[in-house]
Amino acid sequence: MYELYSKNQIQERVKEIATEINNTYGDEQLTVIGILNGSFMFVSDLVRQLTMPIELDFFGAKSYMGRKRNPGIHFTKEFDIDLKGKNVLVVEDIVDSGNTMFVVLDNFSGREPKSLRLCTLLDKPTKREKIVHMDWIGFEIPNKFVIGYGLDYYGLYRNLSNICVL
Ligand code: IMP
Ligand code: MG
Repeated sequence: MYELYSKNQIQERVKEIATEINNTYGDEQLTVIGILNGSFMFVSDLVRQLTMPIELDFFGAKSYMGRKRNPGIHFTKEFDIDLKGKNVLVVEDIVDSGNTMFVVLDNFSGREPKSLRLCTLLDKPTKREKIVHMDWIGFEIPNKFVIGYGLDYYGLYRNLSNICVL
């Protein structure tokens, strides 16, 4: 196991992204939807740097391998906020194949938000299967399995303050 991004590097990058998000929305109210479980730490650091009125909830989406290894996505947690007419910012830990975000963004856009943008901590573009537009990316990483800062390996390591390659 070795470190890819230190606690300080992550915190610096979160601040930079928050500044860009603050500049994009100004004083307009923002609805932040974090994707569970991996985004919890990123969301909590990010929203503390945002300056507009924030509404916050989490959405659960899990990918699984179906027959013939076709990935399916099932939703594990819904939220009460009506997205219609809202500025919605989806916050994700990592976009890998893109299948999870493709399905989640398709679902959310059907709820008629005023705007829908995606902020992902990590982008692993090498095995992309679905084109997903990412408005903010923390770090682009190589095709390595990473853990920490919310990301897990069989449920473990989410509590680390840094990001490591397993
Ligand atoms: P996608 O649907 O292939 O884009 O995968 C998205 C989900 O797979 C993420 O939300 C993560 O939960 C998980 N994932 C993909 N790569 C990694 C990794 O390197 N470490 C931990 N989880 C990962
Ligand atoms: Mg995830």
